[in-house]
Amino acid sequence: RVAQTLRSGARVASPVAGALRNSFTVVQEATPRLNRCELYVPGTQAKIIPKAAKSAADVVVMDLEDSVAIGEKEVARKNVIQALKEVDFGNKTVAVRINGLYSHHMYRDVVDIIEQAGERCDVFIVPMVGVDKDVYMADALVSQVEEAVGRKKKIGFGLIIEATMGMMNVNSIAAASKRNESLHFGVADYSASTKSRTTNIGGPNKLYGVLTDKDGDKPRDFVWGDPWHYAMSRIVVAARANGLRPVDGPFGDIGDPDGYRAQCNRGAALGMEGKWAIHPSQVAIANEVFSPGEAEVTQARRVLEAMEKAQREGLGAVSLDGKLVDIASIKQADAIVKKAEAIAA
Ligand code: GLV
Ligand code: MG
Repeated sequence: RVAQTLRSGARVASPVAGALRNSFTVVQEATPRLNRCELYVPGTQAKIIPKAAKSAADVVVMDLEDSVAIGEKEVARKNVIQALKEVDFGNKTVAVRINGLYSHHMYRDVVDIIEQAGERCDVFIVPMVGVDKDVYMADALVSQVEEAVGRKKKIGFGLIIEATMGMMNVNSIAAASKRNESLHFGVADYSASTKSRTTNIGGPNKLYGVLTDKDGDKPRDFVWGDPWHYAMSRIVVAARANGLRPVDGPFGDIGDPDGYRAQCNRGAALGMEGKWAIHPSQVAIANEVFSPGEAEVTQARRVLEAMEKAQREGLGAVSLDGKLVDIASIKQADAIVKKAEAIAA
């Protein structure tokens, strides 16, 4: 089958050889991981970490940055190191959000975690990345400590884009290190950085919309827009173009599951791989939205079958249920099938 040929990586032998190439430049995908939901736990909350480890989130992030008060930084770091050594995280991706490069706590987070916490940490989430040199510096520091302790597994980077400088430089940031795995949209700090008229963490803004034309023949309507569309789209493009996963950040209204679901849906529609959960009640919603549904997977398999048949007959495009499918459809469908297989594995 076409899909199997593509999945095996034997693209030369495929009847649609080259179908996954977008340019003469072939993008290398980052270390593959499920990334539908990232559950954040403040590093100060030692008792909650084992609970997060048992949750359904694909990624647990123990936070040393903004959910930890300045006076608690050392305690939080110790808790996280102990959890990395003692808690059973199963097959989850385990991440630590270290402090930003703007703070002296950052180097100590890196040094102590790599020196003292064994190899269970998979990813450092690096906040407030502003320029590609921030990533270079973090990479150099992490590389030195890893080498000094003889660490076998290299730590990956999840980079938070959450200030105008980071957004301006998102393309070079995305390409700045082989450790890069994901880009995250930190909407709270981003709205502070742009001086947006809100104190919410994410979500819609009642100021942001248009009033339909007053000369129209229908009653006027105020149509809400998504104030984060541009920022999210830029992150999706920069991430995907560099083989990284784009991940949408926090939604602060933990009492509004419908609002959270809507935020997940519009992220998924744009190409986001997943979303943060800042409360356990958000995990199941993100998992559901960022998993392809049964009907979607069945349809994707039908597209692959239709295109396999088309290719055998020497055709590049055919009609399926009255809609055109072509070689681009193979790439769309293959991504859905692959994701479903990773979730089932
Ligand atoms: C996350 O760190 C944010 O600022 O939204
Ligand atoms: Mg932030």
